[in-house]
Amino acid sequence: MREIAPSILSADPLLLEEQVHLIEKDASILHIDIMDGHFVPNLTFGPHFVRALKKRFPSLTLDVHLMVDRPEIMIDWYLDAGSDWISFHIEANPHHHRYLMKIKEAGRKAGLALNPTTSLCLLEPALPYVDFVLLLTVNPGFGGQKFISEGLKKINSLKEMREKGGYDFLIEVDGGIKRENIKKIFEAGTDVAVAGSAVFEGNPLENLLALKEASK
Ligand code: DX5
Ligand code: ZN
Repeated sequence: MREIAPSILSADPLLLEEQVHLIEKDASILHIDIMDGHFVPNLTFGPHFVRALKKRFPSLTLDVHLMVDRPEIMIDWYLDAGSDWISFHIEANPHHHRYLMKIKEAGRKAGLALNPTTSLCLLEPALPYVDFVLLLTVNPGFGGQKFISEGLKKINSLKEMREKGGYDFLIEVDGGIKRENIKKIFEAGTDVAVAGSAVFEGNPLENLLALKEASK
């Protein structure tokens, strides 16, 4: 699978509806960054916003990336709001199995997110339970940062772990994905490439189509 998931973080907050409408025909997954000002030094959206998006864009898969401390207290909020995919950080809660199962039992896709220098060894025991893994290739918190190039090796290693274990989870990669590097990122084993500034800075539709072209 090779999909681009636009990240709404870089969209103009006063033009959100219009900007999402522009990309909805050419993107099926919309990435939504939830930041709490603790786990990451920035604040973004809440469940009310996710609910409104789901109502307005029911056919989009809403991919909610929780960059928060204590995600366990918020998972219900985002399930109720209609999130289709929910990932939380492996660094933010030690009870991975418990909360992955909670998301899956609600009929949604469950993911674990890893910061750039968090080892895949920590992830390995959870691999039988994840629907997807979200590898951060920038330090989470802000859009428009530079891709940390060691990420390519990590994507590849995760792909090998998937093959060895006979798993079928998706590999999603988030941070610093641009026209110049998207092809390499897919070639390393990415299934879903998140792109924020590369889509929403300028004309979102033109940018998305250019990213698709660059990924071939
Ligand atoms: C970073 C977020 C990303 C962000 C990516 O904390 O998790 O989803 O939107 O932005 P770009 O694509 O601009 O690096
Ligand atoms: Zn994200």
